Amino acid sequence: MTAPGGGVYLDWNATTPPHPSVVEAWRAAVSSGWANASSVHRAGQRARALLDEAREAVAVLLGFEPADVALTSGGTEANNLALVGLVPPGATGALVVGGVEHPSVARAAAGLAARGVAVEVAPPAPSGRVEPAAVARALAALPTVAGPRVVSLQSVNHELGVLQPVAEVAALAHRSGALLHVDAVQGAGKLDRSAWQGADLVTMAGHKLRGPKGTGAVAWRRGVRLVPLLAGGAQERGLRPGTQDAAAAAGLAVACRRAPEHRAATAAVGPLRDQLERELVAAGARLGIEVLRNGTSERVAHVSSLAFVGWRGAELCAALALEGVAVSSGAACSAGTPEASAVVAAVAGRARAEATVRLSLGETTTARDVEVALEAFRRVLARGPAREP
Ligand SMILES: Cc1ncc(COP(=O)(O)O)c(C=O)c1O
Repeated sequence: MTAPGGGVYLDWNATTPPHPSVVEAWRAAVSSGWANASSVHRAGQRARALLDEAREAVAVLLGFEPADVALTSGGTEANNLALVGLVPPGATGALVVGGVEHPSVARAAAGLAARGVAVEVAPPAPSGRVEPAAVARALAALPTVAGPRVVSLQSVNHELGVLQPVAEVAALAHRSGALLHVDAVQGAGKLDRSAWQGADLVTMAGHKLRGPKGTGAVAWRRGVRLVPLLAGGAQERGLRPGTQDAAAAAGLAVACRRAPEHRAATAAVGPLRDQLERELVAAGARLGIEVLRNGTSERVAHVSSLAFVGWRGAELCAALALEGVAVSSGAACSAGTPEASAVVAAVAGRARAEATVRLSLGETTTARDVEVALEAFRRVLARGPAREP
């Protein structure tokens, strides 16, 4: 597909282009659903109906009840609400987090630790998987404290695409009396519900499955008690005060309903991803550049994390951007300063992380996109790195 500004977009894990049917519903709802959903009048009821439909669609996608879903501004807020909402200020508890979690989980956990909550990190294996045995060891290391025991593990890693052993971890978490939170931001709409089977709380974001940015949700098993992060009104089951964006919710609902289509089309890009990897390894070999795959465990079909030894991933990304190819160097770019991927560093070491580029394909990626990207890679790699890494 052609990205805004032109060129090839291979950064679907960062965000996806909103689907035309999402845009249509969203745009229509900007005009028809702008009222305050808390108002009793007819306009308010219209906005409220859009929110109800969105919660219903999220509930169907995730396998929870609509009454047990709160809409949020995205994955980051949903993850914070899930974790901090379980152990709010003043409360005690104990938490295990996977060692390759997104910063919205890892930093929320660090914040809890700074507040005196017992936090253990379950480190990943070199394969990229957080093995159940590592979670069991982390659980065993937790002190016995009052309050909830919680395990947080993502369904699929955002940088490596590696699938995490959620069902096994759910079983062992429950055996030790802990709740399981699954960050399904990269899994919802890409995997079936078995990818978060057994979870007591699940979080998702609309923009990763072609919904609007600024939409997401947390769903919980009946009986799980969460406390809101903000003080205010009683919107979203009392968990998320503030006037809701019913128009964005209308777009989210459509994205969730078309998730099976998104899932099938995303899985179908596997051969293109494999071709990209194969030809990049071959191009590297011709130029004397070792190209190594990060995360060797079972993974989703659309993601590739590759280290180009001797290169800096950020530099390679920037050079590719000039060629019109959008990829990422793995980590969030804060204030325009790319940092090496913490995920790859945890799995394969810092040097590999600094040399890494993530390519993520999606529903509309074509064979031609892959050809164009490969040509750009070959040109950039042939020029050599601008400076020693
Ligand atoms: C696994 C994972 N969790 C959480 C998030 C945060 O989601 P959002 O960008 O909607 O806040 C992301 C975003 O990249 C993610 O990949």
